Amino acid sequence: MTSRLLISLVSCLVAAHQASLVSRCDLAKVLHQEDLDGFEGYSLSDWLCLAFVEGDFNITKVNENTDGSFDYGIFQINSHYWCNDYRSHTENICQVECQELLSPSLLSIINCAKKIVSIAGGMKNWVRWRLHCAGRPLSYWMTGCHLG
Ligand SMILES: *[C@@H]1O[C@H](CO)[C@@H](O)[C@H](O)[C@H]1NC(C)=O
Repeated sequence: MTSRLLISLVSCLVAAHQASLVSRCDLAKVLHQEDLDGFEGYSLSDWLCLAFVEGDFNITKVNENTDGSFDYGIFQINSHYWCNDYRSHTENICQVECQELLSPSLLSIINCAKKIVSIAGGMKNWVRWRLHCAGRPLSYWMTGCHLG
């Protein structure tokens, strides 16, 4: 293999790897467009903190839980309750395929997250948000982000 071919192959892999990440301010813009600012009393900073502590800003993140269920996407939405991944029993409350929650447009996962945050407990339904974001000053998450 020529080194030039190797280099283009490697940069291709790097690009594909990074494509799963959304920048903090780009995410803030999408969340703002989808009317999440103040939705059920949560600020954009709450949503950004949630996306960081649960999803590492990784749109395609999938994580297996010890109970055999999977968490999907930037908000790590669980397959036992919210979406269907055809791997185990699900309530499928969001009426969506889990794979759709990984879509780069983020629209499916935002719709499902709206449903989750609307039930009793709100954002506390996400354990990591409760542990790492709740009750803390969070406005710095929006630092440097222009929504307009
Ligand atoms: C995003 O998550 C996917 C699936 O969990 C993983 O394969 C990929 O490496 C992650 N991307 C980054 C940049 O961490």
